[in-house]
Amino acid sequence: MPMSTRKSGRSRTWRAALPAVAAAALSTALAVTAVTAAAAELPRLVERDGRHALLVDGKPFLVLGAQVHNSSNSVAALERVWPAVADAKANTVVVPVAWEQVEPAEGRFDFGFVDTLLAQARERGVRVVLLWFATWKNTSPQYAPAWVKLDNARFPRMLDDKGKPSYCLSPFGAETLAADRRAFVALMTHLKQVDEATRTVIMVQVQNEVGTYGLARDHGAAANRAFAAEVPAEVLRLQKPAAGGKARGSWTEVYGDYAEQYFHSWAIARYIGEIAAAGRRVYDLPMFVNNALRDPLAPMAPWKSDFASGGPTHDVIGIYKAAAPRIDIVGPDIYMPESAKVEAILDQFQRRDNALWVPEIGNATTYARYHYAILGRGAIGVAPFGVDYADYSNYPLGSPHTDARMTAPIAAVYGGFAPMASQWAQWALEGRTRGVAEGDDRQPRTVAFKGWTAKVSFGEWQFGERSWPQLKDDAPPSAAKPVGGVAIAQIADDEFIVTGRSARVRFEPDASFQGLGTMLVHAQEGGFGPDGRWTTVRNWNGDQVDWGLNLPATPTVLRVKLGRY
Ligand code: DGJ
Repeated sequence: MPMSTRKSGRSRTWRAALPAVAAAALSTALAVTAVTAAAAELPRLVERDGRHALLVDGKPFLVLGAQVHNSSNSVAALERVWPAVADAKANTVVVPVAWEQVEPAEGRFDFGFVDTLLAQARERGVRVVLLWFATWKNTSPQYAPAWVKLDNARFPRMLDDKGKPSYCLSPFGAETLAADRRAFVALMTHLKQVDEATRTVIMVQVQNEVGTYGLARDHGAAANRAFAAEVPAEVLRLQKPAAGGKARGSWTEVYGDYAEQYFHSWAIARYIGEIAAAGRRVYDLPMFVNNALRDPLAPMAPWKSDFASGGPTHDVIGIYKAAAPRIDIVGPDIYMPESAKVEAILDQFQRRDNALWVPEIGNATTYARYHYAILGRGAIGVAPFGVDYADYSNYPLGSPHTDARMTAPIAAVYGGFAPMASQWAQWALEGRTRGVAEGDDRQPRTVAFKGWTAKVSFGEWQFGERSWPQLKDDAPPSAAKPVGGVAIAQIADDEFIVTGRSARVRFEPDASFQGLGTMLVHAQEGGFGPDGRWTTVRNWNGDQVDWGLNLPATPTVLRVKLGRY
């Protein structure tokens, strides 16, 4: 609130003032005009003024995801998946479907696992995102069937400039593309048959972390011919020439030192784009690709074996949009715990033409706070990786724990969002939401809204000021490591929904309040029910608001009304 500049005792000054009438009224949050559509429509993405929402059954859907471990794509493994999904309070499970699993012998398909997964998900009211692990999984063909992996004549690998084969399958393998596409179309045909009526599956990822390590591009004959040809016009429209490059011409003429990486990105994107387009012709679900990131803070420089060339890194999103128009989203897989890097990654991947969706992020405690920043800035969702209780942990990328110690930090965030997930997605589409995560610098952050600024600080006791002599050397438990975060939606001119943990929030008026005093009208703790109605469980006042709104470590949702005099 324009919270206490407490000078003496409990008296407070509510700083500054409001304009006579606060500008054009925001429609009240609870009466927002929902995007309407027939309940039976397929999941789809919508864009409004550069912001996005995923509609499921015609309503905005916030993906509170849980991605399982790679080898949890079997019927037997699922029994360790569901308890973790429930404990994390996720509403969506993200699961691989491997080409080798559905087409072990050429032309013979088996979708038994998919059917069991969908049946069990439906029983639990959980939605599903499927990951098509096929020609490339983390760049390698390890999830392709043996009949593909072993037939290098029919399914060629990339060649280096001396003709030596790479581990990676070539994006110019016409038979590989045809075979992968056939299998994917079979999967989508099956999904249409078994899931169109219920729409349990809401999105599909096509391949996984593509690109190539150690080689910038394929040097096979077909690749060399394409590399010498003109850059396609649709690429030129979306990917600017390099400094000093020609406006059109061959890849080298236009993109100079970036030519090989950009060319390889185009080749892989085109391959994926054909598979996605063929699948969507059969059953039109939203589709995306994910990305092993290049360093988000390093100055832009040509590839030098420092990331997977050809993957959808932030610098080539335009090429992916041009070459794979039926891929809706390029999403970042976040395994960099540093807050400055995470902020840069979110900036790079959230674009007018690219909804923010984080298909993977570490499941270690340190990452959980970023969910507030991700969902607060209007992502369609997020999915921590390795959320199942299989006897396996991908520490140090993720949590060392394979039990509730791993899911609890996720649940602490998802618990606040889960009951209001659809409203939140609607507010995000309307541009009403913001979010912050505690930075590694532990410093306060400010978040601007219409008429108000929220100041968010971390590592505070719930009572008093850190500057007090008796608190100087006495830090609260939340100060040990950065764990705090807050997401806020402005649901009306002077009204906010706040969810967060281990953070202090103070609302202050902006300059438009000149001459007026401001106050906290009320801060109600409660939540939204399944019918979208707010219920207050208690009113915060007195000590609980005099020092800002101090959100505990447990999921908390506040409805805050501010005023002026
Ligand atoms: C990113 C990949 O996309 C995942 O499938 C997994 O291999 C993680 N890396 C590491 O656990």
